[in-house]
Amino acid sequence: GIPGITPTEEKDGNLPDIVNNGSLHEFLVGLHERYGPVVSFWFGRRLVVSLGTVDVLKQHINPNKTLDPFETMLKSLLKYQSDNGSGNENHLRKKLYENSVTKSLRSNFALLLKLSEELLDKWLSYPETQHVPLSQHMLGFAMKSVTQIVMGSTFEDDQEVIRFQKNHGNRYMFSYFQVWSEIGKGFLDGSLDKSATRKKQYEDALMQLESVLKKIIKERKGRNFSQHIFIDSLVQGNLNDQQVLEDSMIFSLAGCIITAKLCTWAIYFLTTSEEVQRKLHEEVDQVFGKGPITPEKIEHLRYCRQVLCETVRTAKLTPVSARLQDIEGKINQFIIPKETLVLYALGVVLQDPNTWPSPHKFDPDRFDDESAMKTFSLLCFGNWLPFFLTRFAYMVTTVLLSVLVKRLHLLSVEGQVIETKYELVTSSREEAWITVTKRH
Ligand SMILES: *[C@@H]1O[C@H](CO)[C@@H](O)[C@H](O)[C@H]1NC(C)=O
Ligand SMILES: *[C@@H]1O[C@H](CO)[C@@H](O)[C@H](O)[C@H]1NC(C)=O
Ligand SMILES: *[C@@H]1O[C@H](CO)[C@@H](O)[C@H](O)[C@H]1NC(C)=O
Ligand SMILES: *[C@@H]1O[C@H](CO)[C@@H](O)[C@H](O)[C@H]1NC(C)=O
Repeated sequence: GIPGITPTEEKDGNLPDIVNNGSLHEFLVGLHERYGPVVSFWFGRRLVVSLGTVDVLKQHINPNKTLDPFETMLKSLLKYQSDNGSGNENHLRKKLYENSVTKSLRSNFALLLKLSEELLDKWLSYPETQHVPLSQHMLGFAMKSVTQIVMGSTFEDDQEVIRFQKNHGNRYMFSYFQVWSEIGKGFLDGSLDKSATRKKQYEDALMQLESVLKKIIKERKGRNFSQHIFIDSLVQGNLNDQQVLEDSMIFSLAGCIITAKLCTWAIYFLTTSEEVQRKLHEEVDQVFGKGPITPEKIEHLRYCRQVLCETVRTAKLTPVSARLQDIEGKINQFIIPKETLVLYALGVVLQDPNTWPSPHKFDPDRFDDESAMKTFSLLCFGNWLPFFLTRFAYMVTTVLLSVLVKRLHLLSVEGQVIETKYELVTSSREEAWITVTKRH
């Protein structure tokens, strides 16, 4: 009895509609517009329900269920076994994750600052008219930051790994990228299974990443290093090797892409609003003055946090999330049968004008309102993996923005039109170009 559409093809269900609409997100926008907050359609032969307002999501989000939809989705794409998430064990893992993120960020703060300053120096050296390829630079920055925080840089002393990096460094980055882009595409259209070459390349890339991680896990075991990395906490937390491997793989893949896209969108939106950039600069100036950027002071950047939340909202950074209905449930008057795939249409909810006035406007001030922040937190941090990931990405992005905004005006390139590509994480279809000028 849930409103929605019938399959257009017996075998593929509504997949052709999704592909023709350009993305799952765009398909869901149309579907919710036509049929309301709770809608149904068909993924192949499987009935799917999508939820498209804050009100219905509130009925479905259960904070007691620690197993996370984003994680579940990634795990199934990587063909990792998903555990059922029995309460206690998951609670412990959640604590462990929290600890890992906090400790590894603290231990690597100076490194983050250094990477941000390297980027600043590079941009400072450009002539003012030079166009900067923003997405590309942000991906590079995110990969360096995330790889070092998750996997460490201690192996720089290790001759073998130096060789590894020299010979395979680029290939390794390429693997990262390839695995991710396949996850983005393969998620939707199942095309990966149809192309033997692509599938083989994907599997090789994944294997390469796994073998690096395995090597590092082995190296970190039973030893103390001065730099604390994400993997250390997992190793010390008595997870078995396979769990450490899977968790660090998921964290580094997702962390890298979410950080890269958050940085890209945040800077891009800043270039579109002089006023927001002025306020952010004012705050950075007020909080740090002429002093150094420190983890303690970073916590005082309230407006910067609003800028980042508004970036996630306006860009619809992770437009769709999913969950398997474990027991029969009810939303409004509709029964959701057990084992239905339930989608959270976050991209639809985050641009709902009933919740967000002028939803397409980039306006960090909307988060001055506590209730707006509360709604946003429920949607975006209601699930624990995105919570840790975004906390991680927020910190990395905040450090970068502080360093950049202190010294530079970030400017848009006139006449540039940004088209959006909605995959697992939202990005721009083409390179996003900006220019920079020095502040005086
Ligand atoms: C786009 O999706 C809608 C459902 O939201 C569907 O009815 C329509 O046929 C799709 N458009 C195309 C061009 O397939
Ligand atoms: C979550 O757990 C608490 C305590 O175990 C319980 O009182 C509450 O009803 C649960 N909430 C949901 C939505 O299941
Ligand atoms: C996970 O769930 C499945 C099916 O509901 C069950 O057969 C299995 O025993 C569960 N595994 C654990 C570790 O609880
Ligand atoms: C590592 O450090 C911890 C706490 O500082 C200590 O308890 C442990 O014995 C050390 N392990 C090794 C192998 O040195």
